[in-house]
Amino acid sequence: MIEQLIELEKTALKELDAVKDPSELEKLRISYLGKKGILTSLMRKVGTLPQEQRADAGRVSNLVKSNLSRRIKEVIEGIESLKPDQSAFIDVTLPGRKPLRGHLHPITLVIQEVCQIFIKMGFKIVKGPNVELDYYNFEALNLPKDHPARDMQDTFYVSDNVVLRTHTSPIQVRTMESQRPPVSIIAPGKVYRRDSDVSHTPMFHQVEGLLVDKQVSLGDLKGTLTSFVHQMFGSDTRIRFRPSFFPFTEPSAEVDIQCVICGGKGCRTCSQSGWLEILGSGMVDPEVYRFVDYDPELYSGFAFGMGIERIAMLKYGIDDIQLFFKNDMRFLKQF
Ligand code: FA5
Ligand code: MG
Repeated sequence: MIEQLIELEKTALKELDAVKDPSELEKLRISYLGKKGILTSLMRKVGTLPQEQRADAGRVSNLVKSNLSRRIKEVIEGIESLKPDQSAFIDVTLPGRKPLRGHLHPITLVIQEVCQIFIKMGFKIVKGPNVELDYYNFEALNLPKDHPARDMQDTFYVSDNVVLRTHTSPIQVRTMESQRPPVSIIAPGKVYRRDSDVSHTPMFHQVEGLLVDKQVSLGDLKGTLTSFVHQMFGSDTRIRFRPSFFPFTEPSAEVDIQCVICGGKGCRTCSQSGWLEILGSGMVDPEVYRFVDYDPELYSGFAFGMGIERIAMLKYGIDDIQLFFKNDMRFLKQF
């Protein structure tokens, strides 16, 4: 009986090795392990053997059964791994997928548009450092260390005398230090303040403007900025010059344009006022000329600094400034 079982295992394993497809394998399984299979019938006979042979024959037949079952399982797995993987199937007739193409960030687009308008009016682009000396960011702009107006801008300090610039105005001083009038420059760049809500972010962008020459008047300032707003937002855009204060300009004005989100009715973006401030401006304070050695009797000029995010929000009707910096592709793709 035991020899018979061993012989059966050998043949069965050989036959299993030759199997190529699942139906063939199933037939083979039934012929050995099925109800009427060869092994099954042999195992039934174990009970009829004489007492002393029964235990050994039983053990060997169980072993053969489990060996064959294991081998059958292995063969099934082998056949399945040869089948083509459905998920890797490539339909060569499908059209190709377009690679993602990047484009400029909406803030970059608005900076370019703003600069283009001023370049047409004859302004030149200059740049300045993001990490700035206290001297240029404050002191030379008529903001000495103990000046209360320093509180208007929540500053990130790098050290006692070094700050992350809170505005692009230090570039005014750097420019006047290195050039004699007439000067007419614009300076785009990042600025930093401890500030964060729907209309404020800790990093944002400004474009600074400065024009100094003989006999520059407040009328030139109004004309230049009105022309800018009309080119940027259309000639029917409502704007207002609102008297304000900056230590480095006198007189000073902030420019508001009607909130395009609510049409002037009042919403969370404009803090219910119907207007949104886009820039600060004024006639350069004679005190500032002292720091750069310009003669205030001979020269006068105007300066302005605008918030690019504000302008982008108004231009595209966006009600949350944070969206510009969340890098959500669904948002960015629209520009
Ligand atoms: C200034 O920064 C002055 N340097 C502007 C200036 C330049 C005045 C030259 C006179 C002469 P102000 O802090 O108001 O001013 O900021 C200017 C503009 O930046 C604001 O009108 C607003 O549009 C924008 N802005 C200010 N703070 C934030 C902020 N946290 N997030 C986004 N935009 C801001
Ligand atoms: Mg302001």
